[in-house]
Order: sequence, then structure tokens, then C-alpha cells
Amino acid sequence: MIINYKIDKIKHKATFCFNKESPDIYKALSNLYCDKKMLLIIDKKLNDKFTKFLFKDLKKCGLKVILLKVNGSKINKNKKLLFKIIDKLIENRFTKKSVLLSCGGGVIGDVAALACSLYYRGMIYFHIPTTMTAIVDSCLGGKTGINYKNIINSVGNYYHSQNVFISKNVIELIPNREFMSGIPEIIKSGFIDNKKILSMLKSNKEKFLSRKYNFLSQLIKLTLTTKIKFFKDDVFEHSKRLNLNFGHTFAHAIEMSLQGRKTDVIRHGEAVGIGMLCEIYYSEGESKSFKQLKDLLALYNLPTNLLHLNFKKKLSLVKNEIFKNIFLDKKKIGRYPRIIKLIKIGKSKITVMKNNKKIINTINNVIFK
Ligand SMILES: NC(=O)c1ccc[n+]([C@@H]2O[C@H](COP(=O)([O-])OP(=O)(O)OC[C@H]3O[C@@H](n4cnc5c(N)ncnc54)[C@H](O)[C@@H]3O)[C@@H](O)[C@H]2O)c1
Repeated sequence: MIINYKIDKIKHKATFCFNKESPDIYKALSNLYCDKKMLLIIDKKLNDKFTKFLFKDLKKCGLKVILLKVNGSKINKNKKLLFKIIDKLIENRFTKKSVLLSCGGGVIGDVAALACSLYYRGMIYFHIPTTMTAIVDSCLGGKTGINYKNIINSVGNYYHSQNVFISKNVIELIPNREFMSGIPEIIKSGFIDNKKILSMLKSNKEKFLSRKYNFLSQLIKLTLTTKIKFFKDDVFEHSKRLNLNFGHTFAHAIEMSLQGRKTDVIRHGEAVGIGMLCEIYYSEGESKSFKQLKDLLALYNLPTNLLHLNFKKKLSLVKNEIFKNIFLDKKKIGRYPRIIKLIKIGKSKITVMKNNKKIINTINNVIFK
């Protein structure tokens, strides 16, 4: 199963890989016009079973593979990781016609794609997403980035993978938290575009949890199809693509407020779940959609607030930080941050948040209640 799409007349794909061995990767890479050199960037936490299969396939393609193992996690989404990759490319005399294959979650995908776009202004790029967030969201759309000066994705650009491989083998080995925390991005696509996604999640919890690939691949396909629909004619995010930010104004504010710790206390996807609740609450209070979203998050045991976290500082300070960080929203034009307002399920629009008191109420009544 393949999803084909075009950006500026250039063909791109997402390929679903049903086999343990990867004939699809072999097919894509063995006939590629390139200099037969590849930098393979792998998340250190990936299961060895998967890397073993991957290596075998890459060797069969006749590529000379240089391996770089790196750490994922948002705390490493920085210039150090970016330049580690670029240094490796320089050290090994890679060219514009060499291939970079990244294999990791959203962090490694975003940073590797940025490095790939910068080195000689762009080399050949492929990606294997290895968390659910990366599979249903970050693997497509071309957004790259690092966090800099405590601002999420403040340095980045757009660079699209030629082909993204969504592997059954990878999905089976994803640790539970990295598997579950992608669900809010799936729900997001349901709310802004396609009700069917919501009903599939609601009625198939068992199939989801037992990772039935036939079911998951259909759900992932619908989610990615929604994403493509929103970004393909608006890659630079001037209008339609903005809808994909549903939940993200509050989510990024939450993530930035929790940054700076040694461990990644909240996953991006988990923050998006709470962020969507906040954005619905800001617009319409505890409405039917609010309840529907809360129930769906609860069905999959996903956080609906931050009360479970053990804050080392005073709660009022955290609340203030979240409030301040909302104003770092990248969609902001002028003074006011912007959020996505749901008109009904399947229809949304961008709107400004002008009422500070309502923002504070939302922080108190959703994130800390
Ligand atoms: N480019 C986009 O369109 C887009 C969209 C959504 C999110 N993002 C970005 O993605 C990032 C979040 O992605 P994420 O949740 O995948 O985080 P992540 O990449 O940090 O992965 C989470 C954790 O799982 C580990 N990991 C990854 N795959 C694994 C596997 N198969 N087995 C074991 N451990 C594994 C990582 O090392 C890390 O510790 C954020 O930086 C966010 O900004 C980008």
C-alpha cells in the first residue's frame, strides 16, 4: 500500500511495509540515481532486532553505509545534534548525490531533515518513523527544526522526504509510551477533517492496543491523507495548513514550560491532547466536543491535564510560564496568539485569542483541574 502525493509537481510517497524483510526499501533504494553512499542515522533506543533487518536490506542495495547512532528526546533537539550530523557528512566526504536515511521519532526526523537540507543545500532524503507521533504526523509535510533559545522549532525550514517507510516491524517494537502518545495527533485529524477516524478509534481499542497492522495501517493512512490534504497546496503555512496546528498553541506553551529538565517529562503528542482540550474550552467551554475529546483521551489513558506531574516549583510559577509562552505562538500576527477553533467536527478555522482572562481561566480549568 502506497500513498502518492505531489508537492510543486515533484512526486513523494509514503510506503506501508508489511514484511519483516523490507522489499519496499530495497526497491526504492537499489534503483536510485545516487553515489551509492548513505548516512544512516538511528535512534540509540531502537530495538536491535529492527536494525539488524535494516542493515541486511541496505547491504543488498549495494550502498556503502556509514552509521550514526544518536539520542532522540526533545532535550537533544538542538544545534549540537544538528552539527554532529553535519560534521559526520563532512568527515566522510558525502556529496549532494549521497543519501541520508533517518530512523527515529519526531526529534531525529526533524533534525536529520534539517541537516540534510543544509548540507550542500540539500541531499537525497528518506525516513523511517519509529514512534506513533512520527508515523502519523511528523514523517510527512517537510517541517524540519531544532529548538533554540528555549523556543520550540525556532530554527528550521521545509524539506521533504522522497519516501517514508511505515514498517510493521517497527510498529511491533515501539515502547508503549511512544506508541500511545501519538494518538492525540490521530484524534486531531479526526476533529479537523474526518469523523471516521474518531469512530475507528472509539470502537477499535483492542485492535489498536494489540497493534493489528491491517487495522493500524488503515487508520494511519486516513490520518496521513488528512495531513497531505491540508499541507500539499500550502506547504509554507499561510492558510489551510494552519488547521493542522489544532491544540498546538497551548501544547507548545506547555512543552516550553516543562523544558530544561533532564528528562522529557511530557511527550509532544500528550501535550497536543491537553492543548486541543484547551483550545476547545477557550472557544466554547465544556461543550459536547470538549467532552467527546476528553472521553476519547481517557479511553486510551492519555493525560487530560498536568496534575499527575510532580512540579518542583510553585504551581503559580508554572501557570505564569505557560501563560507567557502562549505569546511565543509562531502563528501570532501582531499582539495576539492564535488558535484553531472547531466550527463542527470536520471543519475548523484560525482565530485570535484576545481575552487574557479567558486564557488564564483555560489554564486553571483545563490544565490544572
Ligand atoms: N515535523 C513535523 O511536522 C512534526 C510534527 C509533530 C511533531 N514534531 C516534533 O516531533 C517531536 C516529538 O516526536 P516524538 O514524540 O516521536 O519524540 P522523540 O523523537 O523524542 O521520541 C520519543 C522517545 O522515544 C525514543 N524512541 C523513538 N523511537 C523509538 C523506538 N522505536 N523504540 C524505542 N525508543 C524509541 C526516543 O529516543 C525518545 O526518547 C517534537 O520535537 C515535535 O516538535 C514534528
